[in-house]
Amino acid sequence: MDKSKSKQIRKESRRVATSGDIEVSTYLEIAKEISGEQPITPKEAVPPAKRETIIVIDFGSQYSMLIARRVRECQVYCELLPYDTPWEKIASLNPSGFILSGGPASVYQPDAPLAPTYIYESHLPILGICYGMQILTHQLGGKVSPGTKREYGHAILHLSDADSPLFADLPPSSPVWMSHGDKIEEMPPAFATLAYTENSPIAVMGNDEGIFGLQFHPEVAHTPEGKTILKNFVYRVCGCQGNWTMGNFINESIAKIKKQVGKGKVISALSGGVDSAVVATLIHWAIGDQLTCIFVNNGLLRREEVERTFNTFRLNLGMNIIYVDASQRFLNRLKGVTDPEMKRKVVGEEFIKVFEEEAEKIGKVDFLAQGTLYPDVIESTSSVTSASAKIKTHHNVGGLPAKMTLNLLEPLRYLFKDEVRQVGLELGLPEEMVWRQPFPGPGLAIRIIGEVTKEKLEILRNADWIVMNEIKKAKLYRQLWQSFAILTDVKSVGVMGDYRTYGYLVAIRAVTSEDAMTADWSRLPYDVLARISNRIVNEVPEVNRVVYDITSKPPSTIEWE
Ligand code: XMP
Repeated sequence: MDKSKSKQIRKESRRVATSGDIEVSTYLEIAKEISGEQPITPKEAVPPAKRETIIVIDFGSQYSMLIARRVRECQVYCELLPYDTPWEKIASLNPSGFILSGGPASVYQPDAPLAPTYIYESHLPILGICYGMQILTHQLGGKVSPGTKREYGHAILHLSDADSPLFADLPPSSPVWMSHGDKIEEMPPAFATLAYTENSPIAVMGNDEGIFGLQFHPEVAHTPEGKTILKNFVYRVCGCQGNWTMGNFINESIAKIKKQVGKGKVISALSGGVDSAVVATLIHWAIGDQLTCIFVNNGLLRREEVERTFNTFRLNLGMNIIYVDASQRFLNRLKGVTDPEMKRKVVGEEFIKVFEEEAEKIGKVDFLAQGTLYPDVIESTSSVTSASAKIKTHHNVGGLPAKMTLNLLEPLRYLFKDEVRQVGLELGLPEEMVWRQPFPGPGLAIRIIGEVTKEKLEILRNADWIVMNEIKKAKLYRQLWQSFAILTDVKSVGVMGDYRTYGYLVAIRAVTSEDAMTADWSRLPYDVLARISNRIVNEVPEVNRVVYDITSKPPSTIEWE
């Protein structure tokens, strides 16, 4: 699909926060919940302090988003904005400094993106990273030479001016990660070399006005001192104090939601996933019973998920929840459907129908709350070639029909996933809900190869329960991005006692990942795999063979469908 069209669709479809993040808990956690947790009482909102912001100007590097995350890890709010963002928008964010990201272009290309002049006119500190450094050089009167060969990989950075504020607490030499073609041949007037590597005599440059350039990537894990450099820039050069905490965020959000909603009514879809849980809790803290959550049981959830979600929100948090058991409706719609994309479509459409029907029963509603996160926002606003082509139509359940003319309430719109989890913890949500692994909107339907039936769902639930249980017992749950079972449509011959069996093949998938765009299969210990396999073939009679998926993404995807 061409990009403008996909943007258009994004704008038109209003997403419902049901995607992602439902999972199953261990018996112990369930028992803890059933025994009743302390009810959580919302605290009074205090007025927000003026927020400091660092702006990352995005020139299309695959690491741009990572820069923003790293800055926020230093407790300073950071937004990523396209290089053609108007000054008015930037000014409204009260910037304390700019970071110019890397990018694939070369400053000498005819249409090379450059920094807007207001960045220099603002007299605020600037840190150019990689292509960002080349832009600084080019625009401030230095010379960039086209690299004859790309420098890519590890290098050792040696400080030539250890007194630079950028280098506080840094050792004289440390590893850095290089990835650039062009390099700086001549610095702009009044700039000095602050550090070098074997291949880059000007690996770091700076002037007395607080403008710096780095030839390497401080934001990646391969540059172990990178975070200190970024921290030095925001604190020592930009003068930030560090007021971006999740406690402040909660207070600001509550005040904002109260103001935005007034006496209005809000609906929200609850899935049990962390995003929708945090959205609902935050809004509940702000406006209490003006919020109604709709929790649709699509019959495609994992074992005990429904009870657990319901208990947490209704019993422990005391929220208004409409629970709809629509499992049979979904099953009827899925009858005979084997194509993965069709499954997604069917589940999405049915969800919208149920949601809409329930919403109508509530009467007049003014707002729809959604768990949109910052990476979604960035992806839909980036003016630079957006990296991530979607291979599967997913990550959300679907768009609400246009006739539901509701205003959107998206309190997590500027948060990264790890921040959402922190907010969840601060709001007092149960740890196992906050740390739950992502779970796809179409649920178990895309983990059953072929037609979805009630019987197959039960087989998969039983096998999946064992996987989750053993992974949690081995204390591997949080390290893994996802771990689950797949019910294949393969049957194979086995032997049990004196009998020949002919049973299902179950596959186990366990992956590590940062963001689901790429993933590696986890090297689970053999004894964990052995326990999972033994238990499945012993406790799930329909299954007589278990295999482990040892493919990474790409070329595979995390889900099998
Ligand atoms: P893949 O399989 O594309 O999945 O590697 C990447 C991440 O997305 C999740 N996923 C989905 N989430 N609706 C969702 O809400 C979907 O249709 C869907 N398909 C995949 C998957 O679990 C993984 O975390």
